Amino acid sequence: MYDLVIIGGGPGGYNCAIRAGQLGLKTAIIEKRGKLGGTCLNVGCIPSKALLHASEYFEAASKTFPSMGVRVTGLSLDLPQMLKQKDDSVDGLTKGVEFLMKKNKVDYIKGAGRIVSAGSVEVTAIDGAKQMLETKNIVIATGSVPTDLPGLAIDEEQIVTSTGALSLPQVPGRMVVVGAGVIGLELGSVWRRLGADVTVVEFLDRITPGMDNEISTTFQRVLKKQGMKFELGHKVAGVEKTGGGLLVSIEPAKGGAARVLEADVVLVAIGRKPFTTNLGLENVGVRFDQRGFIETSHFKTNVEGIYAIGDCTHGPMLAHKAEEEGIAVAQALAGKWSHVNYDVIPNVIYTDPEVASVGKSEEELKAAGVEYRSGKFPFMANSRARTNHETEGMVKVLEDAATKRVVGVHMVGSGVGEMIGEICVAMEFGASAEDIARTCHAHPTMSEAIREAAKGVDGWTMQA
Ligand code: FAD
Ligand code: NAI
Repeated sequence: MYDLVIIGGGPGGYNCAIRAGQLGLKTAIIEKRGKLGGTCLNVGCIPSKALLHASEYFEAASKTFPSMGVRVTGLSLDLPQMLKQKDDSVDGLTKGVEFLMKKNKVDYIKGAGRIVSAGSVEVTAIDGAKQMLETKNIVIATGSVPTDLPGLAIDEEQIVTSTGALSLPQVPGRMVVVGAGVIGLELGSVWRRLGADVTVVEFLDRITPGMDNEISTTFQRVLKKQGMKFELGHKVAGVEKTGGGLLVSIEPAKGGAARVLEADVVLVAIGRKPFTTNLGLENVGVRFDQRGFIETSHFKTNVEGIYAIGDCTHGPMLAHKAEEEGIAVAQALAGKWSHVNYDVIPNVIYTDPEVASVGKSEEELKAAGVEYRSGKFPFMANSRARTNHETEGMVKVLEDAATKRVVGVHMVGSGVGEMIGEICVAMEFGASAEDIARTCHAHPTMSEAIREAAKGVDGWTMQA
């Protein structure tokens, strides 16, 4: 009899397993992919960052190095090697997770899990063999899959999701990206840097919905300058396959004449949906909403002893959110603290410059009627940014005027994805903008821009 059986080996599931193992719970994790790590390690965060990093270097070698006195002659792309180093990172990390299961005495069972009753899970191995696991608790961590666009048949070669876009065997001449969200802009950037002519078609009148407006506008301006094209307020009406290419018919979202874009590859990135197929939820009556997200209250489903975490339940679809929830459930089952602070979940887009934010946007604060004060600082005025030729972007700090707590920080700039950690710690400790403004930051660093923006909340920005 297990204390805990986890279905799904992504960041939600495997972190839950590690923590449960550390806390002495007898734990099993079931994964049907044949490898641990879930979407994140296999076809998400890790391979996309491997390509973003390598393609950023490739572009810098031709566009940025010469201005710094570094001449590269005979620069060329070795795409098979770029894809291989990505696959090597994935392999190393998935094996690392498997090692962590052993280290923490977690049984890793390869196969598809199906809930038969609140205390039993049937596993069907890849070769069809079945076994039944008896357990006191079940955690559903089955993640998410890409949302389909009706009328566009995904073949993962010409019409691809993020999974196909991570392994294209050659650089497409023209790529149409449907959806100006995180996946579209990250993977669109990869292929643009490697030579594709990229056009992003977005249904709304803006990119990255949900992001602070000013940051989103700044970000789009930079992407445009880099050569990415945008068709905002448009939807894809259909895609026709011709001899070798694709004809993508787009229409204004508000109605109007259609136009045709030619493409070699279409990337569909219009969001992801929870995955709970063949999980046996109907056997036990676990409730989910109309969009398929499992409903929970403090990670508990409506059925005693069954929990849900990560992308298959509500909240941001992010690896670190899934991880937090996994840890919290393991803690709860071991009778320890169990808490996720959803107000401090950072968001990063790993383009160049990066975008990083945590907490509320100005629009959200206005909509909630919260009085706030803001301070801003452009990287153009930051000495390190200027020295590194990385002056695009800004930092914005938002403080609740009544409580004097920082409630949101939004940044566009080189390396801001690493800088957001400082803000998360500050917000967890209930910092005011003054606390950040009075904290010594090393010089010359990009992080001084955070301090200057924080000073700006009290009106004493010094270096701009
Ligand atoms: P998943 O990682 O989806 O794992 C669920 C696992 O459950 C899967 O491996 C699946 O095979 C398995 N499973 C499903 N059903 C069963 C079953 N019945 N039996 C056994 N196993 C089952 N997030 C970030 O925070 N940062 C990023 O940079 C980032 N980049 C991304 C890039 C891309 C291209 C994509 C697609 C996503 C990215 N994400 C990123 C999102 C991140 O991958 C997800 O939020 C995260 O993986 C969710 O974790 P999870 O454990 O809930 O689910
Ligand atoms: P998304 O929700 O970020 O963006 C989807 C975009 O598509 C939105 O702008 C939406 O308005 C648009 N859209 C929807 N339907 C459309 C249509 N029919 N035509 C044109 N546009 C349409 O979703 P995305 O990019 O697919 O990513 C899914 C999730 O994966 C993200 O929400 C995020 O949680 C996660 N992710 C996180 C990353 C990170 O943290 N760096 C990287 C990649 C993914």
